[in-house]
Amino acid sequence: MFTVQQLMPEQIDDLVVIQGNLLPATADLRDAYTRGLKDGKFYGVVEEGRVVGAYASSGISITVPGGQTVRAEIFSDAAVLPTHRRRGILRSMMSHHVQDAAENGASLSLLQATEPDIYGRFEYGAASMRLSLKIESRNVYIPSAVGDRQSVELTIMNSEAAIPLCEEIRRSLMSSRQGWAQREPANPDRWAGDNSLRYLMARRDGVYTGYARYSVRPDNQMSKGAVTVWEIESGDAESRREIWSFLLSLDLVDTVFVNSLPIDDPLLSMASDIRRCHITLQDDFYLRLLDIRAALIARQYASPIDVVLEVSDDLTPENSGRWHLTSDGVTSDCGRTEKPADLILAGRDLARTYLGGSTLDGLARAGRVAELRKGALRHASSALAVSEAPWIPTYI
Ligand SMILES: CC(C)(COP(=O)(O)OP(=O)(O)OC[C@H]1O[C@@H](n2cnc3c(N)ncnc32)[C@H](O)[C@@H]1OP(=O)(O)O)[C@@H](O)C(=O)NCCC(=O)NCCS
Repeated sequence: MFTVQQLMPEQIDDLVVIQGNLLPATADLRDAYTRGLKDGKFYGVVEEGRVVGAYASSGISITVPGGQTVRAEIFSDAAVLPTHRRRGILRSMMSHHVQDAAENGASLSLLQATEPDIYGRFEYGAASMRLSLKIESRNVYIPSAVGDRQSVELTIMNSEAAIPLCEEIRRSLMSSRQGWAQREPANPDRWAGDNSLRYLMARRDGVYTGYARYSVRPDNQMSKGAVTVWEIESGDAESRREIWSFLLSLDLVDTVFVNSLPIDDPLLSMASDIRRCHITLQDDFYLRLLDIRAALIARQYASPIDVVLEVSDDLTPENSGRWHLTSDGVTSDCGRTEKPADLILAGRDLARTYLGGSTLDGLARAGRVAELRKGALRHASSALAVSEAPWIPTYI
C-alpha cells in the first residue's frame, strides 16, 4: 500500500533519485529541491518506508474573468521510479493533491503537462494556449503607430535595480487579464544572480510602464546573434511597441526567439511581416476545478446566465452532478439542484471554458457538450465568453 506524505529536508537524496530519472541532478537543481523541501512544497509516495514517487505543489493567485483573483495550486515535478510505473502512484499523488489543495482553500489546480494525454482522466482541461516565435529580426520591424504618441524612455538596467521594478509592474497588471498569476508568497529573488539576463525598462512621465527580460547569444563575426525574450510585460500599448521596436532592431542580431505570448498578442498586428515571425501555437496550462461552486461564483459573466450544468468528475464525486448557475452579469450564485440538466459535460471541459480559452459552443461542435434544452448552449456560451484570450505567464 502507498501513503502520500510531505517530504522533509532530510529526504533530499530520495527526491534527487526520483527526479534524477527526468533531469540530471545538477548542483543548481539540488539547491532548488532543498529550497522546495524547506518550503514544504514536495510530497512523496512511500511504499514500505521507501519513497517511490514525488510531486510538488505551490500556491498562486490567479486572475479570473472579471478581474477577481482566486487561490490556486500548481501541481508540478511529478515523477515515479521507473521500477514502479503503472501501479497507480501518479493516481495516488493526484488524489492527494486534489484533496489537499481544496482543503487549503484553493478552488483551482493548474499544471503544465509534458504528456497532456495523461491528465484528462483527472479532469484537467487545456485552459490557456501560448505562442512561441522565431522572428527573422532583420526582416521584421514595427511600423509607426497612428495618432499622436507620447514619448517612451527606454533604459537598460542591471538585475539588482530592475528586479524590484519588474515585480511592481507585474503586480500592477494582476487584474488586467484572465490568467495573470503570481506566487504566494511572491519570490522576486528567483531571477537574482542570473548574469545572462538583461533588462530593458520602459518609462513614461517618470513612471515605469513595462520591461523585457531577455538574453543575448552574440555572434559578432557573422552578425548572426540571437536574442531570447523570456518575458515582456506592459499594460501600456506605446511602451510595449517601443520595447518590441528596440528588440527587433538590435545590431548584430538576426533572430529573436520569444518564449510565450498570448494568442491575441498585439505583436501579431504590429509586426511588419507576420510570416517571418515563424509562429508556433502550443497548449500551455491545464486547469482543474477543485471546487466547482466556489470557482463558478468567483468569475464574472459577459451577460446574464441561468443554466443547469450536469458535470461529471471521476476523481471528485463531490463535484459531480447538477449545478444551477445564475448571474445577472455582476453577482453570481451556484448550487446543487434537482432541476433537469440543460447542458451535460465533463469537468475537464468545463475547466477548458473557465478562463475563456474555449467556448461551450466550440466544445459542443467537437462533441464535448450535449444540449438538452434548446437555446441553452448559445445562452451559456455567450455568458462564459471573454474578450481577451486567457494567458498564464510562464514564470509565475
Ligand atoms: C508519467 C508518470 C508520472 C506516470 O506515473 P504512473 O505511476 O506510472 O501512473 P499511474 O500508474 O498512476 O497511471 C494513472 C493513469 O495514467 C495513465 N498513464 C500513465 N502514464 C501515462 C503515459 N505516459 N501516457 C498515457 N497514459 C499514462 C495510466 O494508464 C493510468 O490510466 P488509468 O487510471 O485510466 O488506467 C510516470 O510514468 C513517470 O514518472 N514518468 C517519467 C516522468 C514523466 O514523464 N513525467 C511527465 C508527467 S507530465
